[in-house]
Amino acid sequence: MIASIAKICESGIGYCGSESVVSSKILIAGGTVVNADHQEVADVYVEDGVIVDVRPNIKVSDGVRIVDATGKFVMPGGIDPHTHLAMEFMGTETIDNFFSGQAAALAGGTTMHIDFVIPVNGSLSKGYEAYVEKAKLSCMDYGFHMAITKWDDTVSNEMEIMVKEKGINSFKFFMAYKGSLMISDELLLEGLKQCKSLGALAMVHAENGDAVFEGQKRMIELGITGPEGHALSRPPVLEGEATARAIRLAAFVNTPLYVVHVMSIDAMEEIARARKSGQKVIGEPVVSGLVLDDSVLWDPDFITAAKQVTIFVFVMSPPIRASGHGKALQAALSTGILKLVGTDHCTFNSTQKSFGIDDFRKIPNGVNGLEERMHLVWDTMVESGQLSVTDFVRVTSTECAKLFNIYPRKGAIRAGSDADIIIFNPNSTFHISASSHHSKSDTNVYEGRHGKGKVEVTIAGGKIVWENEELKVVPGSGKYISMPPFNYLYNGIDKADENYLTSLKAPVNRIKPSL
Ligand code: URP
Ligand code: ZN
Ligand code: ZN
Ligand code: ZN
Repeated sequence: MIASIAKICESGIGYCGSESVVSSKILIAGGTVVNADHQEVADVYVEDGVIVDVRPNIKVSDGVRIVDATGKFVMPGGIDPHTHLAMEFMGTETIDNFFSGQAAALAGGTTMHIDFVIPVNGSLSKGYEAYVEKAKLSCMDYGFHMAITKWDDTVSNEMEIMVKEKGINSFKFFMAYKGSLMISDELLLEGLKQCKSLGALAMVHAENGDAVFEGQKRMIELGITGPEGHALSRPPVLEGEATARAIRLAAFVNTPLYVVHVMSIDAMEEIARARKSGQKVIGEPVVSGLVLDDSVLWDPDFITAAKQVTIFVFVMSPPIRASGHGKALQAALSTGILKLVGTDHCTFNSTQKSFGIDDFRKIPNGVNGLEERMHLVWDTMVESGQLSVTDFVRVTSTECAKLFNIYPRKGAIRAGSDADIIIFNPNSTFHISASSHHSKSDTNVYEGRHGKGKVEVTIAGGKIVWENEELKVVPGSGKYISMPPFNYLYNGIDKADENYLTSLKAPVNRIKPSL
């Protein structure tokens, strides 16, 4: 293990600590322990990767590492529900793999993530095997969602295998990326039905891919080949349309739905409407959508070709919108319309982004965020008074653990939970720059940002992996977290189905069935 640390450091990554001694017994003393429902001053005692005790004044024997957390918050490590590490996409592969992406995550206080397995030629088992290989580099815990990119009996059967044998409880359907990942409504309907029968959570990338394709054609015909063409070709209305369509199809099947990377008011309002009517729809904003806006696209400073390249880093799908959208998404997060925050971490370096120098359609889509999420959500939402500290824990950790059925093993500071813990100093400051971040990318979409609050210590699997601005991480030390089906959203789904069937069997014209 120590050898592998040295090897990686020599190879130039340069952010591994040389010291390999990490105590398996830790007392975090005197901090304010924050869970999603409660906060109190208490000590936290950790042994062999598990939280053993949480209460004031815990006494420990010699040999226990004591970390003073007085005046700081002790919170569950972040869980990022949406990442793409080592993903082959748009003719290239993301620059962050399961080691560099996770190292970055740990430096920013995230201790688990759920990555999207992409099938190989539609095969779920081949995709799964490929991701098992990629994830051998892991230095923190992770789980898998799986994308569905084609439909036949084999795929349907493999979904069952993934749920029952491989610990995957969620499947993503891309309604965009025509010609590569995009699925039809017919496939979405079949997929929703199969998700329901397996108790899996259906997830959608909601943009109308056919209309985006038409929008792209329009832009190219108008001679708009720069990055603004990306935003103009896939406006909010196309995100709203696909979100509404997916929501209605999920209602028709009566199954829960999770909408990933909600980027616009249009999509958010569809989710709000559905939730108000009682439908089980979860909306996930991502950090970029909450805190960035598209102003750089229209800044005259960026009109020259050389400068345009520097804004390719902002290109993701759905696009980063005009500023009103981010503010509305923040409000929706603070009022519970949107439930948890992801990153969609999907990084490409400037060489890869430059593939689109003559044509925005070739700019690999994706931004960073794994390292920045906790800091930016705190600074944007807690410092502005839009979220309480307990709500911060809920949207960055606990809700994700609950939705993917791993709570309270994850997402809580309580006896018996995994020791994935951060010590957060609300009086310190964070600074973001590609020159100091831990992602392998040479750019950072949040370059130059700074704000209040700092993750000072990260404990993952009971070991201190981030302290004094230094990472101590070992590839291969992360564990795969198996996630069982039938999360809390499934409570009551069978009752609604039973009532529907009962009403259908009733004599005609006596009880009108409702969908
Ligand atoms: O631009 C993005 N979002 N890249 C990652 C793939 C996806 O759509 O989630
Ligand atoms: Zn997506
Ligand atoms: Zn994504
Ligand atoms: Zn700064």
